Amino acid sequence: MLSKLIVAMTLRMPRWFVRWVSRRYVAGSTLKDAVAVMKRLESEGACFTIDVLGEEISSLDEAQFFLDEYVRVMNAIVENKFDANLSIKPTAFGLLIDKDKGMENIESLVRQAATHDMFVRLDMEDHRVTTETIQVVLDLHEKGLTNVGTVLQGRLHRTPDDIESVGVAIGSNADYRICKGIYLEPEEIAYTSRSDIREKTNEAIRKALEHGAYVGIASHDVPVVDYSLEVLKEFKMGPSIDDPRDNAGEPRNGKGPGYEFQMLLGVRGPMRRKLTKQGHRTRVYIPYGEKWYEYSIRRLQENPTIGLQIAKAFLMPWTNRP
Ligand code: FDA
Repeated sequence: MLSKLIVAMTLRMPRWFVRWVSRRYVAGSTLKDAVAVMKRLESEGACFTIDVLGEEISSLDEAQFFLDEYVRVMNAIVENKFDANLSIKPTAFGLLIDKDKGMENIESLVRQAATHDMFVRLDMEDHRVTTETIQVVLDLHEKGLTNVGTVLQGRLHRTPDDIESVGVAIGSNADYRICKGIYLEPEEIAYTSRSDIREKTNEAIRKALEHGAYVGIASHDVPVVDYSLEVLKEFKMGPSIDDPRDNAGEPRNGKGPGYEFQMLLGVRGPMRRKLTKQGHRTRVYIPYGEKWYEYSIRRLQENPTIGLQIAKAFLMPWTNRP
């Protein structure tokens, strides 16, 4: 209750206050800010994925902005020799305005990334674009671009079927980030209780690993992380062990032995550092961009427990950092 109240109050505060609260979750408004965060977190043994903030757009000119900005990100990663890849929102590339042009934009980025042996992850947005997003990945693989994968959301009923069908289409080249799913989807297509979402996310992680896919385990939820560690043990997978699965793909640049853990910037740092210390590959999702305000508001609304973090930041400002 207290936490929800603090979040409700924060949502009514001026932008500078929201900026201060969100500084641990958002690198800043420019690429320079994201580079500075990567330089700082490199020493913790983390690798990264960069998200230029923004999603559904209203004109294709905006899509061109995202394409250009991601090329700048790619060049900065190469120049600084960061262990990093890209996370993009397909709708920011125009997928909902003009499917062909959206696909063309995404293909252009993935092609350029391929020349640097860099991976591109298509973040998963709401159910309006689930099928299209998966299809973009399959079409690009068919064109020989295997440095691309997407995200599957544990909460969606369709996810086990998607793991089956994508597995049939691209086999061991399948590379998923598996998370609970941030969008509150209707109960006709999604699980809605916390316990069901957790259980189905765990099942999706197991199933994707069983199918030989590369799996980015994207959760800060202790039971999900613990379950994943158990499943990895069962499959005899782990740090410093070559992926033992018969149906797994060849080792790839910038990837772990069949799996990695992924967490958002500023969330559960101690858990991430502990996993890194145990030898697991851990990737930090780093958002930056002019749209930091909208992103921060969404995070606050998504996770009312952040209220307690805000109170802590206020009382102990030195703790308010990634
Ligand atoms: P849960 O919500 O139960 O969180 C466990 C605990 O972690 C919370 O109690 C809190 O302490 C902390 N926590 C979690 N999220 C927090 C936050 N935002 N700020 C502060 N504390 C937080 N979703 C999607 O639909 N499409 C996508 O492409 C992605 N991509 C993605 C990438 C990465 C790297 C991560 C980690 C997550 C995503 N997500 C996503 C979001 C994901 O679907 C989910 O909404 C959040 O990760 C929260 O779920 P958890 O599994 O962390 O559990």
